[in-house]
Amino acid sequence: MNELSGPGRPANPSVQAAVVASDLGLTFPGKRAGEEVRVLKRIDIDVRPGEFVCLVGPSGCGKTTLLNLLAGFQKASRGEVLVQGEPVHGPDRRRIYIFQEGGVFPWLTVGENVAFGLRRKTEMERQRIVQHYVDMVGLTGFERVYPRQLSGGMRQRVELARALAADPAILYMDEPFGALDYFTRFKMRADLVRIWQQERKTILFVTHDIDEAVQLADRIVVLSPRPASVQAMVAVDLPRPRDANLPAYLHTRDRILGIMGMDLWSDKATRSDDASTNEGHQRQGSLTHSLAERSGPGHTETQG
Ligand SMILES: Nc1ncnc2c1ncn2[C@@H]1O[C@H](COP(=O)(O)OP(=O)(O)OP(=O)(O)O)[C@@H](O)[C@H]1O
Ligand SMILES: [Mg+2]
Repeated sequence: MNELSGPGRPANPSVQAAVVASDLGLTFPGKRAGEEVRVLKRIDIDVRPGEFVCLVGPSGCGKTTLLNLLAGFQKASRGEVLVQGEPVHGPDRRRIYIFQEGGVFPWLTVGENVAFGLRRKTEMERQRIVQHYVDMVGLTGFERVYPRQLSGGMRQRVELARALAADPAILYMDEPFGALDYFTRFKMRADLVRIWQQERKTILFVTHDIDEAVQLADRIVVLSPRPASVQAMVAVDLPRPRDANLPAYLHTRDRILGIMGMDLWSDKATRSDDASTNEGHQRQGSLTHSLAERSGPGHTETQG
């Protein structure tokens, strides 16, 4: 893959990358003897400190597996992962993983959950940090409440607060809002952007939702179907919070859908579906018009 220019790449090459994966490959043993399931073909990624990177790709392509490798939860069959210049051999307190659901401890209150990684701090310091992150995620007043008394979105906020309170270098998030309803997801994304702008943690975020990726990321890694390789890297150079109605936003989203073979609005797709009907011709006309309006920069891209 070619080097990418623009906002998706480290401005200063001498700054040590937060995460580097080189020639990463993974093959699982199959169900029968001698059988193999090749999940990752060849992955090369580097992430700069403080960068927000989204990993997208078709279902089952190996997104979770790749995130596990990058976090040190799983061993690669080939290649290497460096985090802050050090080879990764296992999980580490500096790297925190947030799952889709069920990450909070049900037997602890919100405050106790957030304080979980702070046992070495003094009581005063612990209270200060807990309050800071409880406030940041919008749970002020819920400190003494148990997770079962909260909504799904609130529980994800607890998990985010707990992760941030532990002050990790890197946050790994695997479809963290996947179980939430549309409106809660919307709010959580906006809040995550605000929090990331305050905290500037490096975030590696897996999602199958292209809109979510374009809302959040500095850079989007588009993975191919299994065995996954990096199909494209798309840098999203749009100010935050991002207006999903802007032509540049829509252009970036459509580009990614196109790379993933889901360019449903293209001439080709419209022709094959609708060419035999008048409605189809009319629709093709209006869509071509709306695509023509969606011009302008918003991303730089390399394809692998
Ligand atoms: N421990 C394992 N042993 C064998 N195969 C595995 C193992 N873990 C994952 N796989 C296979 O690897 C492939 C990729 O799985 P993975 O969960 O990483 O995909 P994904 O892109 O995260 O999928 P989804 O979009 O559904 O979350 C799948 O075909 C899965 O069956
Ligand atoms: Mg997954």
